[in-house]
Order: sequence, then structure tokens, then C-alpha cells
Amino acid sequence: MCALGGLAIIFNRLAINDTVTPRPYIIINVAQSLNGMIAGNGGRRVSISCDEDMKRVDGIRSSVDAIMVGANTVINDNPSLTVRGKNVANPKRIVLDNKLRVPENSNIFDGTAETIIFTSQQGRKMPNARVMVREEEDLGVGKVMADLYGMGLKRILVEGGRTVINELLSESLCDEFYIYVGNILIRNGLPLFQPQGDIRDIVIGKTIIGNGVLYTLDCKKLKGE
Ligand SMILES: NC(=O)c1ccc[n+]([C@@H]2O[C@H](COP(=O)([O-])OP(=O)(O)OC[C@H]3O[C@@H](n4cnc5c(N)ncnc54)[C@H](OP(=O)(O)O)[C@@H]3O)[C@@H](O)[C@H]2O)c1
Repeated sequence: MCALGGLAIIFNRLAINDTVTPRPYIIINVAQSLNGMIAGNGGRRVSISCDEDMKRVDGIRSSVDAIMVGANTVINDNPSLTVRGKNVANPKRIVLDNKLRVPENSNIFDGTAETIIFTSQQGRKMPNARVMVREEEDLGVGKVMADLYGMGLKRILVEGGRTVINELLSESLCDEFYIYVGNILIRNGLPLFQPQGDIRDIVIGKTIIGNGVLYTLDCKKLKGE
């Protein structure tokens, strides 16, 4: 596809988001093993990606307004969710944490980027973070996305985990979906999803990166679990 064609598609998507759906443009990126696992037993963090792929992810991170993850990803992986090796402003960090379970010494509270927590727990402050309290027990990721759009965050990268990704897919809240398949098998791991039926022709792009393969999926065909 020529560069102009690509730009036209991007503008089209932005236009669709601005007029039809009051939500940000949503990119999902995840790494999985050859047997479809995104973590080890009990959510144990396993290194699946490689340096070359991390650079690709950094490229996406530097192009978005915010990076979103679920509470368990913070608890199990303790990610920094910042752009490495580039002199650019870090995107905001958004954490979906209904019960406010993330530890106060997590890297997301290190002050290197703004952190926003969406929770239903009243009255607690977190270090270096804005706590957005929602009345409803079920915060609904669609409502959160609409709020983020209202806050001026128009482009969001979602990096996991399994629950958050499936919530988004089940509400058709996805515009780009990347799965990096690393050169590893994980025993007794946490699967990304179990499709509700067979889905053919789901891959719309593939590239070898390092010792794995990056797949671009047609997220319109995915419904989550
Ligand atoms: N390979 C990869 O690329 C990759 C990337 C990221 C994470 N991971 C792995 O994925 C695992 C975590 O996945 P996971 O499915 O267990 O958890 P998760 O998606 O990280 O977090 C799920 C939790 O987030 C909270 N949450 C989800 N949706 C919410 C919403 N709409 N509003 C408020 N809170 C919401 C809930 O907390 P409550 O239960 O308290 O309500 C929910 O249990 C980790 O073990 C990590 O290693 C892998």
C-alpha cells in the first residue's frame, strides 16, 4: 500500500471515531507463546518478546496518548509502561483496578509518566496518580474509553492482560490488533483467549521480527471470550 493510501485509511478511522463512536482509536498489542499462552502458571511473568520486538512496541508507545493495562498485569509483571531509549514524552498510564489492588510501590507510580487509575473504591489516594472513582461496581471498559476520549486521549495502546483484552474484544472496541508469537512453548500457562468458534482468515499481516513472528489480526472478526 502506498503511503497516501495508508494515511487515507488512518484519517478515515479517525473520522469514524470522531463522528460515530465517542471513543479513542484502540490498538491492542500482546505477546504469546507458540501454544497461545501470554503468561506462565498462575499468571507468572514469562519473557516472550525479543529486543527487536520491544523496539517495535516502543514505536507504538511513542505514538499513543496512553497505555492501558489491567490490575493483574501491574501486580504480576510490575511494568513501567514507558518509552525506552527515545527522548520523547511518555504517554499516560491507565490502570483498570476495580478494587484498587495494585501495590503502592509499583513502577507505574514512579512519577516518570502520569498514571490514572479507574476504580470503584472511594477515598484512597495512590502515590503520583490520579484516582478516578466510579460509582458502578462494573466499570465497563466502554465507559472508561468514552471518559478517556472526553479527557482528550484519542489514541490508546492496550497491553493486557487477558481479561482486559477479552472485555474490549467482546465490545468490539479494537481498531488494530498485534500478536507477537515468540519462539517459546509455555507449560500450564495462561491462554490469551479461547475463540467461540473457528475463525478463518484472521491474519491480515505477518512479519518476522527477531526469532518470532508478528501477526496483525482482523479484530472485527474477534469477539473475545
Ligand atoms: N504476554 C503479554 O503480552 C502480556 C501482557 C500483559 C499481561 N500479560 C499477563 O497477563 C496476566 C494478567 O491477565 P489477567 O487477565 O489476569 O488480568 P488483567 O487483564 O491484567 O487485569 C484484570 C483485572 O483488572 C480489573 N479490571 C478489568 N476490567 C476492568 C474494568 N473495566 N474496570 C475496572 N477494573 C477492571 C479487574 O480487577 P478486579 O478483579 O479486582 O475487579 C480484573 O480482575 C499477567 O499474568 C501478565 O503476565 C501478558
